Amino acid sequence: MAEQSEKWVLMVTAQTPTNIAVIKYWGKRDENLILAINDSISVTLDPAHLCTTTTIAVSPSFNQDRMWLNGKEISLAGGRYQSCLREIRARASDVEDEKKGIKITKNDWQNLHVHVASYNNFPTAAGLASSAAGFACLVFSLAKLMNVQEDNGRLSAIARQGSGSACRSLYGGFVKWVMGKEENGSDSIAVPLVDEKHWDELVIIIAVVSSRQKETSSTSGMRETVETSALIEHRAKEVVPKRIIQMEEAIQNRDFPTFAQLTCADSNQFHAVCMDTSPPIFYMNDTSHRQVAYTFDAGPNAVMISRNRKAATLMLQRLLFHFPPNSDTDLNSYVIGDKSILKDAG
Ligand code: DP6
Repeated sequence: MAEQSEKWVLMVTAQTPTNIAVIKYWGKRDENLILAINDSISVTLDPAHLCTTTTIAVSPSFNQDRMWLNGKEISLAGGRYQSCLREIRARASDVEDEKKGIKITKNDWQNLHVHVASYNNFPTAAGLASSAAGFACLVFSLAKLMNVQEDNGRLSAIARQGSGSACRSLYGGFVKWVMGKEENGSDSIAVPLVDEKHWDELVIIIAVVSSRQKETSSTSGMRETVETSALIEHRAKEVVPKRIIQMEEAIQNRDFPTFAQLTCADSNQFHAVCMDTSPPIFYMNDTSHRQVAYTFDAGPNAVMISRNRKAATLMLQRLLFHFPPNSDTDLNSYVIGDKSILKDAG
């Protein structure tokens, strides 16, 4: 790096979709490392509708790490951002851009600062897993910029330290976050179950009931649940382990009735555990309750998964008839997503 002028800037851009859990993660056994109390399974969505696009620039003229989310500067002081930056910097390798005459060594990365600009094409923090896409994209693009030679499984363990659900967005298709056993979290990683082509008839419809920021964040909500709910231990130890096995089988066999039954049951139990929290947490509102086939995350928006495009079209027709957006139903819009994989955009 020494021979170059201070003027150069090197940039990368990446795009990462969000994911929707069909067997939910709720509860941590380690708050700092973000280690879950149960395995979870999710489906990664098509980046066309629900994704984060992140551009990261590095230059010797930057004197501190900075980040802008949807155009507004945010603080990187939090432990989650710092963990991701630290873990990626520790794995950085040499980078050479002959055209620009830039040479950055492994050691240079420890002193270079980055500027991060991140955009969500969907409501941030409204229960549509914006932190999942956000941290997955941050880690993926940092790794690309700093030439980190690790597979997506290892990167998922870093994204996990940004937000638990983020680890699952490093892969497309159906993905399992294995909670792991190690105290240092080394085995708490995302594992791809089947790729996005395996069950490509599935269509996901999200009824955006509210794009307002939710009142209880997932982080504080699950902390309160672990501290106060008597049901959560039963869920984590007895119910979820069995459901994970059944869900993996249903996905492998493309068994829609079993898949739908497990998805709805897990969404119901997740919200039951929220209600069993003291004080109780309500993520759904009256509009959410009126939807039919569903999974709800930590927000009021309904995620509906239908068997194929024909069924999705019929469902959407009915939804539009009964719950037209921007009417007195409080519904904003519908987002239709296919399953997809993360996309390297630059
Ligand atoms: C209900 O991953 O947002 O969406 O790890 O504290 O950042 P933190 O929580 P987060 O929680 C997601 C909870 C959920 C279920 C899920 O995605 O599995």
